[in-house]
Amino acid sequence: MTAPLDQLIALACEARSNAYAPYSNHPVGAVLECDDGGIYSGANVENAAYPLGCCAEASAISAMITAGKSQTISRIIIAGPSTHTCTPCGGCRQRLNEFAAPDTPLILCNIDGEIVDETTMETILPNAFGPNDVHDI
Ligand code: THU
Repeated sequence: MTAPLDQLIALACEARSNAYAPYSNHPVGAVLECDDGGIYSGANVENAAYPLGCCAEASAISAMITAGKSQTISRIIIAGPSTHTCTPCGGCRQRLNEFAAPDTPLILCNIDGEIVDETTMETILPNAFGPNDVHDI
């Protein structure tokens, strides 16, 4: 069960419009589509105590887990605030890896909701350390 990509992009742009990013002025929206068809959005939430800010991807993962349904991400859409690619930060690559597969696609969109890059988890986080490695001693 997959949603039309333009619908997912629209949701990512909508989430971005709800971001709380007064310090960076860099709003980001993220959408996770899960293997059961569930769709979860997130936006970045900054804080006056800067390190406490939360990335859009982390917000979307929280929404997915809170919903208590699928924990398997099948597609990731990220909408950045400029004409440039807004690629997930290092920490969010690891967060996404927890629930995604090496071939899970990432679709990166610009301010206008246009696709500027399409990649995969394996490409952005090669040789990832994941859930199956924790007890692999
Ligand atoms: N940000 C995200 O939400 N996702 C990313 O993957 C990159 C960075 C946010 C964090 C911060 O609120 C702002 O963008 C500037 O770094």
